[in-house]
Amino acid sequence: ACQLDKWAKAAGLKYFGTAVDNPSLSNQGYMKIARDKDEFGQITPANGQKWSNTESSQGRFGYGSGDAIANVAKQTGQLLRCHTLVWYNQLPSWVSSNYNKDQMQRIITTHIQNVAGHYKGQCYAWDVVNEAFEDDGKFRQSAMYRAMGVDYITHSFKVASQTDPGAKLYYNDFNIERCCNAKINATIAMIKTIKAAGAPVDGIGMQGHSRVGKSPSKKELMDTMARFSELVSELAYTEIDIRHTKLPTSAADREQQAKDYLDVVAACLETPKCVGITIWDYTDQYSWIPGQYPGEGEACLFDKSLNKKPAYTSIISLF
Ligand code: XIL
Repeated sequence: ACQLDKWAKAAGLKYFGTAVDNPSLSNQGYMKIARDKDEFGQITPANGQKWSNTESSQGRFGYGSGDAIANVAKQTGQLLRCHTLVWYNQLPSWVSSNYNKDQMQRIITTHIQNVAGHYKGQCYAWDVVNEAFEDDGKFRQSAMYRAMGVDYITHSFKVASQTDPGAKLYYNDFNIERCCNAKINATIAMIKTIKAAGAPVDGIGMQGHSRVGKSPSKKELMDTMARFSELVSELAYTEIDIRHTKLPTSAADREQQAKDYLDVVAACLETPKCVGITIWDYTDQYSWIPGQYPGEGEACLFDKSLNKKPAYTSIISLF
C-alpha cells in the first residue's frame, strides 16, 4: 500500500485520518488530498463543531461550519470523528456565567441534544468531553465543573448516548499519552467514577501533540494504552502532530520526526483496542502549531507545499 488509510486498514486499524478546518476547504490542491479516502479514511472538523461555532448565543444553533466538513465525509464516504461537545475552551462567554447546578445541567442537555441530534447518524465517534484536567491531575475549574463537579461529565455522556446511540463516545485529552503521570491517573479515576454513575463511555482519545526528540516512546505509549484498555472498548490517537522546537529543520531533525511518528503508529498497531490515528491536519500549511507555539512548527506529515516528508514515507514503508 502506498497511501495512509490503505496502509492502516491493511495493518488492521479502522482508519487513518486528518483534521480539516474550514479555511482550507477552498484550496483545491489541499482538498484533493484531504478527500482521497485511500489517504485519509476519516476526517475531523478542526473547529466547526465546537460550542463557539454551534451555539454562540444561547439557544441559537448554527451548523454551517460543521456541516461544511461533515458534508465532505458524506460525499466521500470517509468516517467522521465529531469534535467536541463539552470543552472549557472555544466556549462562548454566556456559558461561563454563574449558573447553578440545575441551570448548567439544562444548558449542557440542550447543547448536546441539539448538536449531537443534528449530526445523528453521521459521527463514527463524538469527543463528548474534551480536556477536563490540568496537567497536575486536578479538574479544570471550567464553568461546567464549577456548577456541577464531575457530574457534568457523567451527564454529558448520558445525554450524548441518548441522543446518538450509534456514535462511539469518547473522553479526549492531551498529555495522557506517556505512561504514567498524574493526569493519566486522574483520567482513569474519573472514567471509573462516571461509569459507576452510569455514563456510557466507549473510548479514550489521546490527542498526541508532542515535540520532536521528546515525544513518548512506543513502550511508554503502550503502557498507557494497556491501562486504558481495562476501562473502555476502544482507544484512538485523535490529534497527532509532532512539532520541531527549532526552525529551520535539518535532515537529521526530519529523520527524528519520522522515528517519533513511527513510535505512535507502532504503539497503536500493537494495541488491540487502538482503532485509528488522526493527525491534526496533514500539512504544515494549515497546522495550528505556529500560531500556538511561536517559533515552533513543521509538525505534520506533508510540508507547506503538500510534499510528503520522511515521516510520511517511513509510515508507509512499515508495510
Ligand atoms: C485547535 C484548532 O486546530 C485551532 O484552529 C484553534 O484555533 C484552536 O483549537 N486540542 C483540541 C483541538 O482538542 O480542538 C485544538 O484545535 C487543538 C488542541
